[in-house]
Amino acid sequence: MLKRFLKEISPRTSEKKTAIVTASPRKSGRCSILAKELKKQIPKSFIIKIADYKISPCKSCLKCSGGSCSIKDGFQNFIKKITRAETLILISPVYFSSIPAQLKAVIDRSQFFWENRMKPAKGLSGRFVLIGDEKKNYLRCCSIPVRAFFNTLGIKYGGGFYLRSCEIDKKIL
Ligand SMILES: Cc1cc2nc3c(=O)[nH]c(=O)nc-3n(C[C@H](O)[C@H](O)[C@H](O)COP(=O)(O)O)c2cc1C
Repeated sequence: MLKRFLKEISPRTSEKKTAIVTASPRKSGRCSILAKELKKQIPKSFIIKIADYKISPCKSCLKCSGGSCSIKDGFQNFIKKITRAETLILISPVYFSSIPAQLKAVIDRSQFFWENRMKPAKGLSGRFVLIGDEKKNYLRCCSIPVRAFFNTLGIKYGGGFYLRSCEIDKKIL
């Protein structure tokens, strides 16, 4: 699957400015290893680590319905960075059959764009790469919030891949 993924993803994205977004808080984990591998293969790519931006979870204060988010933190810069790309590859680990809190915080904070009918990343295309230990394919559940997030930002969902962590350990390490 990893080989197929790399073969499929690299030629399609190689000419485009690509944001490789990693959702894992682990600095040298599999998501980070895969991100570095992709960066080598895609010349105009850059890595964005969600954990490098201090992004608090949504408080449901509903101030966004008035046109501004009450939380001023790394979220605004994170979105700005994404919009510099033409295409996006979001890499996330599976946590308890779901996505990690860091990614969920980003998704929930995007309620601001939903409320204000804004599509800050309109025109981008995006793919989702999920990495888990188990054989079970978690894409079905984990891609639901990710697709909603892409849709809210205006990113066209180009499909998802599920990779097992052992494949990354074997092939890249
Ligand atoms: C809190 C936590 C929960 C996890 N839950 C699952 C799970 O439900 N299913 C699974 O296959 N792997 C699970 N894993 C394993 C990670 O998805 C897997 O090791 C992944 O490669 C970690 O990515 P990283 O190395 O970039 O941090 C979990 C790991 C952590 C830390």
